[in-house]
Amino acid sequence: MYAITGITGKVGGVAARTLLAAGQRIRAVVRNADKGGLWSGLGCQVAIAQMEDAAALTRAFTDVTGVFILPPSNFDPEPGFPEAKAVISAVRQALDATRPARVVCLSTIGAQALQSNLLSQRTLMEQALSKLPMPVTFLRPAWFMENLSWDIDQAREQGVVSCFLQPLDKAIPMVATADVGRVAAELLLQDSGKRVVELEGPDWVTQNEIASELAKALHRPVRAQAVPRENWGMIFRAQGMRDPIPRIQMLDGFNEGWIKFEGNGATLVKGNTSLAEVVRKLVG
Ligand SMILES: NC(=O)c1ccc[n+]([C@@H]2O[C@H](COP(=O)([O-])OP(=O)(O)OC[C@H]3O[C@@H](n4cnc5c(N)ncnc54)[C@H](OP(=O)(O)O)[C@@H]3O)[C@@H](O)[C@H]2O)c1
Repeated sequence: MYAITGITGKVGGVAARTLLAAGQRIRAVVRNADKGGLWSGLGCQVAIAQMEDAAALTRAFTDVTGVFILPPSNFDPEPGFPEAKAVISAVRQALDATRPARVVCLSTIGAQALQSNLLSQRTLMEQALSKLPMPVTFLRPAWFMENLSWDIDQAREQGVVSCFLQPLDKAIPMVATADVGRVAAELLLQDSGKRVVELEGPDWVTQNEIASELAKALHRPVRAQAVPRENWGMIFRAQGMRDPIPRIQMLDGFNEGWIKFEGNGATLVKGNTSLAEVVRKLVG
């Protein structure tokens, strides 16, 4: 039996379906009973837990072989990352109480970076869970290709993609969530010691290539356009963010090259889903 958090989302959903297809039993960890219906219909047990609730997570992780931890995204954290720390504390307590044989924790490219930025939330997670007695695999995927779903409306309506990753011809590692979920499931089935697995797609991707794939899928010209850095804070605040600084620091990290794969003993895995496949699926 494998407990899967984040199962109603992209990565957790693929991880669970991969395990089901391999004949494994699943405990779907969801936030409320309504969200469990699909999964109980597929033969899964359902447990109700918020990621901040140590007691509920302990019940969800009891008597399972493996646990997949998907920490919730927070693009606009309070100073000092208290929301991420609440999740880390609850997850650490629940894993310590239940001691599953295997844990795979979704982390991120750049979790090893020393400079503070949005991804420091995962640095803190890795630091805390590394101290647990059982082997934990930290899966550090590249930038999700699905992030470009935010750009589709603008591309369709204006023929433009506004880019914060710059310069526009700089390739960075990206990966499809289908590959992240599949690899997470495969790692859960493997016995290992503590390890870091870094995951990228078949090719690194530039912003110009994203525009070009969107053009093909939308059957109209689309060009990438760099958003001047001095406007980022104003734009993110206008979108409702209280504090855009951690997100800007993360973008700086990608653009300046200090958010990158660590290498250094980590295993590098390549997914097989191409940018073109993801764009075609998102555009529908
Ligand atoms: N975007 C990137 O480029 C990138 C790169 C590397 C790593 N990551 C990591 O990928 C993860 C996001 O994965 P995804 O795209 O699959 O996410 P997603 O599709 O947005 O799904 C998020 C999942 O988390 C659940 N969830 C959210 N808050 C929760 C809470 N407080 N308690 C319990 N469950 C909660 C959601 O449940 P509901 O259905 O109830 O909302 C949903 O199942 C994050 O950890 C992020 O750091 C992202």
